[in-house]
Amino acid sequence: MEKPWSGRFSEETDEFVEEFTESVSFDRELALEDIRQDIAHVRTLQKAGILSEEETKKIIEGLKGIEKDIREGKFEWKRELEDVHMNIEAELIKRVGDVGGKLHTGRSRNDQVATDERLFLKKETEEIINLLKELRKALVITARNSIDLILPAYTHLQRAQPIRLAHYFLAFREMFLKDTERFLDCYRRIDELPLGSGAVAGVDFPIDRHYTAELLGFNKIVRNSIYATADRDFIAEFLFVCALTGMHLSRLAEDLIIWSSEEFSYVDLPDKLCTGSSIMPQKKNPDVLELIRGKTGRLYGNLLSLLTVLKGIPTAYNRDLQEDKEPLFDSVKTLKGSLIGIRKVIEGLSFKEHKMYPNAGNFVLITDVANYLALKGIPFRKAHHIAGSIVAYLIEKGKRLEDITLEELRSFSELFEEDVFNLFKPENVADRRKTYGGTAREQITKLIEVALREEGLK
Ligand code: ARG
Repeated sequence: MEKPWSGRFSEETDEFVEEFTESVSFDRELALEDIRQDIAHVRTLQKAGILSEEETKKIIEGLKGIEKDIREGKFEWKRELEDVHMNIEAELIKRVGDVGGKLHTGRSRNDQVATDERLFLKKETEEIINLLKELRKALVITARNSIDLILPAYTHLQRAQPIRLAHYFLAFREMFLKDTERFLDCYRRIDELPLGSGAVAGVDFPIDRHYTAELLGFNKIVRNSIYATADRDFIAEFLFVCALTGMHLSRLAEDLIIWSSEEFSYVDLPDKLCTGSSIMPQKKNPDVLELIRGKTGRLYGNLLSLLTVLKGIPTAYNRDLQEDKEPLFDSVKTLKGSLIGIRKVIEGLSFKEHKMYPNAGNFVLITDVANYLALKGIPFRKAHHIAGSIVAYLIEKGKRLEDITLEELRSFSELFEEDVFNLFKPENVADRRKTYGGTAREQITKLIEVALREEGLK
């Protein structure tokens, strides 16, 4: 088959080269963006007096027919035509004749592909931002419903201090809120139009790039034609935010995997989101969560893959840049899947209070015993030491803190009085942490109200 660029060639392309260099097998993902861009470009050419009204109409009709076939899955993609751009252009010429050959006037695939990618990323970033919002809503609602539940917070995976379960879910909401801000910020830099930059140096036809930007809904135009065609920073940045969001999802997934183990038994995962074992009948495996954790590896890999592609290429466009697409498409698909999966799990969680609550007692309360003494004037370091000796004593005796007598406590410090027993209830201890951002019920209740309003749930 004759290539659109075959003029200076005297040999047919090697079969291997066709297979090795093609991108249409994956960049057809950009087909609808490509056609949208084609139409805007044609209108810009008309405005510049390069195409007549008649020609413009003919080309746009041809493009719309192609779009319809693509949407209906009827379009025949040809590997010999290399990529999505040349497939569509060649088909256009086939359908509308020579006039179709005017489509690529004043344009290069270099500014074309960057434009498609930015259009695609605008759409996908919006979708991801919506999915993040759905997830945050689920977290806030779960927080509201779990305000009464107390469990130990862990540091070093050792029981640390009692918290309200709601506090935990609100922590993740904060992370996903920051991720949302990062996507929004990244979106601002995606939202610039490269088209009109040509292959590298700009365009010698009198086209109005601001007009194209307006037609395509871009907020700005890229101000330098070299940068416009060489740049994939907007993709790298997007992939970074995907990787960071994936890391948050993975940590949440990991907590829930641990909590759903029989050893912890803090949560029950919905059956419909778990799978069984082909050999061990008792198993209910948290595969969705495990895959969310595992797929984070891809999100990291995709970022690193693109950064590596970019680091050594001479400015400006090089074919290496074609390698940006598979990581990009993969991260979009992976992150969207993980966001949906984790939300479904969160919405389906049930909690086992009888397992969490006792674990939030005993030595988890001892920090507050030290604080009790500190409030009575003992230097905290010394109070810490006394409280530590109480722990050692109770371990030796095989007793829980709740079972200690006032007499025993007094043997450690005369300052202990009856009121110390108030501290032996995890919820009392949690609710003492009333500072802004602390786990006390009154703090969390306020923050849940704020969060419900911020998420449009109130
Ligand atoms: N398929 C190419 C890519 O994805 C499109 C741009 C090709 N440009 C070129 N000068 N060969 O990067």
